[in-house]
Amino acid sequence: MNNFIDLILSRRSIRKFNNTPISKNDLELIVKAGLAAPSGKNKRTWKFTVVSSTSKIQMLADAIGEVLSRKNYNFYKPTALIIPSNSRESPWGRDDNACALQNIFLAAHSLQIGSVWINQLRDICDHEIIRPILDSFEIPKEHIVYGLAALGYIEEPLKIIERTGLIHFVE
Ligand SMILES: Cc1cc2nc3c(=O)[nH]c(=O)nc-3n(C[C@H](O)[C@H](O)[C@H](O)COP(=O)(O)O)c2cc1C
Repeated sequence: MNNFIDLILSRRSIRKFNNTPISKNDLELIVKAGLAAPSGKNKRTWKFTVVSSTSKIQMLADAIGEVLSRKNYNFYKPTALIIPSNSRESPWGRDDNACALQNIFLAAHSLQIGSVWINQLRDICDHEIIRPILDSFEIPKEHIVYGLAALGYIEEPLKIIERTGLIHFVE
């Protein structure tokens, strides 16, 4: 086993963060990992929006909570969000952004920063309550947010778990 495989095997979705902020340098490194993801036809029609203000994070969470009728919605109280968005015209936007998100999760994990995919915006990012907040974050109106990364330092140490799924070798 090499260190990178160990890193992949030990990543977990984290849903409890402490309040320690993530440095801008680390956030830049993590976004750079997102930018290094593969992209259909190398179109790279994505944008990565990094939100490190906890009040702005909660403002977006409150709006999502209102639209989805989820009381006290808070994205698990992360200290940062990385919001990849992509052109709604791109046939690969959703796939490109999923690849970018996985790079983001692994890069964060390599820096002992926890992360989780947040799916709630996908179907509501054009909602009249949500879009003005995305506008204020300078996410293009023409972009969809398929998933985003909530990030923060880990509250408790990770337990390694066995993963399930079918594997079959044809030789
Ligand atoms: C497409 C997709 C959507 C997801 N949406 C959410 C979500 O909205 N909230 C959440 O807490 N976790 C979300 N997850 C994380 C999964 O629940 C998690 O990856 C899964 O339970 C396996 O756990 P692991 O990431 O620790 O391996 C999502 C994951 C994927 C790939």
